[in-house]
Amino acid sequence: MPDDNARLTTNDMQPFWMPFTANRQFKDNPRLLVEAKGMYYKSHDGREVLDGTAGLWCCNAGHGNPKIVEAIQKQAGVMDYAPAFQMGHPLAFEFASRLSAMLPGNLDKVFYTNSGSEAVDTALKIALAYHRVRGEGARTRFIGRERGYHGVGFGGISVGGIVTNRKFFGPMLAGVDHMPHTHDPKRNAYTKGQPEFGAELADELERIVTLHDPSTIAAVIVEPVAGSTGVLIPPKGYLEKLREITKKHGILLIFDEVITGFGRLGAPFAADYFGVVPDMMTVAKGITSGTVPMGAVFAAGDIYDTFMTGPDNAIELFHGYTYSGHPLACAAGIATLDVYKEERHFERAAEIAPYWQEALHSLKGTKHVVDIRNLGLIGGIELETRPGKPTARAFETFLKAYDKGVLIRTTGDIIALSPPLIIEKAQIDRIVSTIAEILPTID
Ligand SMILES: Cc1ncc(COP(=O)(O)O)c(C=O)c1O
Repeated sequence: MPDDNARLTTNDMQPFWMPFTANRQFKDNPRLLVEAKGMYYKSHDGREVLDGTAGLWCCNAGHGNPKIVEAIQKQAGVMDYAPAFQMGHPLAFEFASRLSAMLPGNLDKVFYTNSGSEAVDTALKIALAYHRVRGEGARTRFIGRERGYHGVGFGGISVGGIVTNRKFFGPMLAGVDHMPHTHDPKRNAYTKGQPEFGAELADELERIVTLHDPSTIAAVIVEPVAGSTGVLIPPKGYLEKLREITKKHGILLIFDEVITGFGRLGAPFAADYFGVVPDMMTVAKGITSGTVPMGAVFAAGDIYDTFMTGPDNAIELFHGYTYSGHPLACAAGIATLDVYKEERHFERAAEIAPYWQEALHSLKGTKHVVDIRNLGLIGGIELETRPGKPTARAFETFLKAYDKGVLIRTTGDIIALSPPLIIEKAQIDRIVSTIAEILPTID
């Protein structure tokens, strides 16, 4: 058996077409991660790298938690796979019951997917089918939001509002409109937590609904906190208004909680944190702490009940994935929920959030920084764009931070941070001081 490092260096980099990556830059200068434990990765050149991003906003319980590892290993030996259609296996039911018990309001049904993108497409399809089954089949439009990120399926990019994710891919879904985003640095720059200004932006939904007529609109989808676009925190009162307007017009409200779900804000879900319960929620990532791919749609009981008509032997919803509720993912998910509870991860996130906030905001005044935003264990540091070179400053910061042993993430010219919920104060200090050291050295 060749030693691992020799294997990595002789690997051919070319066949792998990497996702959302500058392939040529990467392959000229690879950044490979080979091990992970707790708050740290190990790089292929043997360095410890502090994880400031929970992988990709997903490893909320930290890396390599022994309970989760053991559950996956055990299940792999017991049963690899069971058909997902017209058959079942106990763990899928057990996990759904556990999830259902922790959901807010009248959300209590679980439809499994394998990713956030699939969860979004699933929720959109459920919304369309729900209205049709109820005899309101004219409700076919969706309303998303500028700068929204809902994954990369055709449904997700249609309701999403990130230009680069849309412009290459044709007309996408028909009948989609977008509300304005909530980023308002003139009024809200350097706000700690939720911004004061901007609740009135939700009134745009009323305008759009009036334009198309409520009877044509199936659902509104938003991220309660927009993550991948660069951390946009909802203004105070904004989500409440969206809830009010959608309810008034019989429109379903979908919260995309792929990032905010499972403790990121110091509460189980953003719906709990904000006290606003949607009709459906999409999740992924933290549902298994990133260990096995899984996503889900959580739906209100009355949505499910609406489908439970017709003959008993008829399939009620013609939708699902081969790997919906995969045994390894369910085993990982159940163990993850145990770990979150036993190790108090959500509570820890809430407890350390004020320290996180003050540490991030200490970067105010650092070269290039034009705004800092935070909520729970999410942070956004916006840099002034280098004239004519969008994204360059943030990307160079990312590369230098990696060299210094800290993994951060950037989107546009925004540094987006989302560490595992087990982060300690000294590790927060290290992330912040690394960024503070690097920024003055960047052009
Ligand atoms: C809010 C939101 N929705 C959907 C997705 C897509 O999830 P996935 O990459 O698992 O398809 C993401 C991924 O970052 C996300 O942040």
